[in-house]
Amino acid sequence: MAKRIGVIGGGQLARMMTPPAINLGLELRVLAESENSSAVLATTMVGDYTQFEVVAAFAETVDVITFDHEHVPLAVLRKLEEAGVSVQPPSRALAFAQNKLEMRERLGALGLPMPIWAAISTASELQEFLNDNGGVCILKTPIGGYDGKGVRVVKSVDDASDWLEAATLASVGGALLAEEKVNFVRELAQLSARRPSGEFATWPLVQTVQANGVCSEVLAPAPGADDQTIARAAEIARGVAEGLGVTGVLAVEMFETPNGRLLINELAMRPHNSGHFSIEGSTTSQFEQHLRAVADLPLGSTAPTKPHAVMVNLLGVDPQNDFVTGFDKTLAQHPSAKVHTYGKDPRAGRKMGHVTVIGEDANEILAEARATAQALLQGETRSHA
Ligand SMILES: Nc1ncnc2c1ncn2[C@@H]1O[C@H](COP(=O)(O)OP(=O)(O)O)[C@@H](O)[C@H]1O
Ligand SMILES: [Mg+2]
Repeated sequence: MAKRIGVIGGGQLARMMTPPAINLGLELRVLAESENSSAVLATTMVGDYTQFEVVAAFAETVDVITFDHEHVPLAVLRKLEEAGVSVQPPSRALAFAQNKLEMRERLGALGLPMPIWAAISTASELQEFLNDNGGVCILKTPIGGYDGKGVRVVKSVDDASDWLEAATLASVGGALLAEEKVNFVRELAQLSARRPSGEFATWPLVQTVQANGVCSEVLAPAPGADDQTIARAAEIARGVAEGLGVTGVLAVEMFETPNGRLLINELAMRPHNSGHFSIEGSTTSQFEQHLRAVADLPLGSTAPTKPHAVMVNLLGVDPQNDFVTGFDKTLAQHPSAKVHTYGKDPRAGRKMGHVTVIGEDANEILAEARATAQALLQGETRSHA
């Protein structure tokens, strides 16, 4: 049995794997980027995950390798796999989370629903895509983007002239991903988990709310979703997980269109912001489930603990704002709110923590989660005023 779980990356996702690892009696070991990463309590090694020798030395100390982010070079992972290391999700699956163009191609081959898209490497190709799609598109760098970085609304070739320069193009893999600008009614996410031996489980479909390309709130379950949409989302997630050979937690971000279609936006093959609600909102959290799945242990129940859960992100306001000042007062005023902070250096827009509230009444818990986040924010603003 895989008892020692090695996580590459010391961010908040690795941090939040720590409590369930302790509970299950698994040894969590983290290869972090720096000494004082978010996952400092589980950090056993600090080093550069792009170097094969570093990752190989870390792999020697664990039974299975998994991830806090998708940036480990595939060549490094393939070499590990060739040496017999268990990498979950495997490199052949992770390839599709690292590169949005490859993801689009593969999902297309599987017949899964997506926005209209094209690979673009010249101004004339971009112009042609704009002409075919109502004069507007969403242009994305296929690799390295996150939280809206690497995503742009483009209405003319000029809007993308910097990205079309040879050096920039080369740095993102030689081509850009152009997508139709979907006129969605809302964004949804389907979280699931899959073991190497095939067992598969989904959590309730959730609604995600983005502000400036960054997730700000998650509502679980997605308000008013009908049975057909719920079943379709779970079917899509299973199609992706099995079709791509994903193991561990998989998040499928989707758009819901005005006529009720679901279109896949992007994939994350690791615990994901859309699943943070599950720490309190589910019998088994996404962090525990990820550990179980990558260790090929039986999956836990994903049944909700209460009818509704709401998660609100704590986004950094400025380099002083760490959402910790005003902490005791906020905790006193909002005893039912579960406050999570990530121990990261503050920066405007950075995910510094989140708040979850679960309960019977969706509106009440949304108000309470927002009020808690707002109180933490104001405590900080006042102290620096
Ligand atoms: N094709 C699209 N049509 C409309 N909005 C989009 C499209 N693609 C992305 N977006 C918006 O941009 C956000 C970020 O894009 P995404 O591809 O998820 O990048 P990131 O990796 O930064 O999360 C999405 O959550 C959505 O709000
Ligand atoms: Mg996204």
